[in-house]
Amino acid sequence: MFMAQKSSLVSIAHLSKSDLTYLLEMGKEFEKHPNRKILDGRIVATLFFEPSTRTRLSFETAANRLGAKVIGFSDPKVSSSTKGETLKDTIMMVANYSDAIVMRHHLEGAALRASEVSPVPIVNAGDGSHQHPSQTLLDLYSIQQTQGSLENLNIFLVGDLKYGRTVHSLIMAMRHFNPTFHFIAPKSLEMPAEYKYFCQKYGIRFTETEEFNEDIISKADILYMTRVQKERFTDLMEYERVKDTYILQRRMLCKAKDNMKILHPLPRVNEISQDIDDNPHAYYFQQAKNGLYMREAILCHVQGITLNDIKSDKTI
Ligand code: CP
Repeated sequence: MFMAQKSSLVSIAHLSKSDLTYLLEMGKEFEKHPNRKILDGRIVATLFFEPSTRTRLSFETAANRLGAKVIGFSDPKVSSSTKGETLKDTIMMVANYSDAIVMRHHLEGAALRASEVSPVPIVNAGDGSHQHPSQTLLDLYSIQQTQGSLENLNIFLVGDLKYGRTVHSLIMAMRHFNPTFHFIAPKSLEMPAEYKYFCQKYGIRFTETEEFNEDIISKADILYMTRVQKERFTDLMEYERVKDTYILQRRMLCKAKDNMKILHPLPRVNEISQDIDDNPHAYYFQQAKNGLYMREAILCHVQGITLNDIKSDKTI
C-alpha cells in the first residue's frame, strides 16, 4: 500500500481511504505517547519559502519529539535561492544532508517537482493555492475525534474558497467518506471550477451560497472557517472589498447542533470573533495541536516506519 513519488507526501489525492485511516491510527498512537525516539539519528530538513507558524513549528516539534535533528530555513532570503539557485539544485543539495525534506513554496506544483528530483522523501507543507496535505490529515483527525466518524457529515466551508489550499485538499480527502459540502463564499472567491468538477466526478453532493447566518449554521456538523488570503490577491482593492464578508459572531451559534465544531486552519485575522474561543463549539486551537500527532505520523511514514513499528516501539 501507499505512496507515490518515493514515499513522498505531495498530494492528498494520492492517498486511498485505507491510507488515510492508517495514518489516522498512527496519529492516535502519537497522541497517547508523543515522545518516542523512533527517528533517532535521522535528519529532517524544513525549507519554508513562505511564512508559517504552525506547520513549520509542528513539523519541527514532531521531528524533535521523535529524536530526529532538524535543519533548514524559515526565510528564503537567507538561502541561496536569492542568488538564483533553482529549486532542483536546492533540493539536490539539501537531500545530501537530510533524510526527509518538508517544504512550503509559493508555486503550485513545487512539491511535485521537488519529489521528482529528490532522492529523499518530500513532504508538501503547502504549495501556493494548490494543496496542504498535512493540514488535511490533521483536519481529518480533528473531524474524526469530534464527530466519532468521518462518514456522512455536513461540512460547511466558509470564506476564501478560491485561494484556500486547505479546503481544496479537504474536499479531495473527504471523497472517501460520503460528505455533503456547502460552499459559502463571495462570488469572487468561490470554489474553483476544477474542485466542483472533482465533486461531480466523485458523486460528492455540494451546495453554493453567499449567505451566512444562524439558520445556515444550524445544519452544520463542521463549520470550517478560512482567512481571506491577502498575499494571493493581485488587486488589493478587491481584497479590501471582500476581506470582512464573513465574520463569525457568538450569537450566530444559537441554533448550532450540539456536535457542531468550528475548525480553522489558522492563522485567523478577524473571521472568528475572539469571544467564541471559549465556546464549546470552538475546536481550532485543539485542531492545531492535533497537527503535532499527525505530523509525527507523516514523518514516520515517509521514513518507512509502520504502525506496527510504532505500537511495538520501546523508546517511550
Ligand atoms: N495552517 C497553517 O498552515 O498555518 P501556518 O501558515 O502558520 O503554517
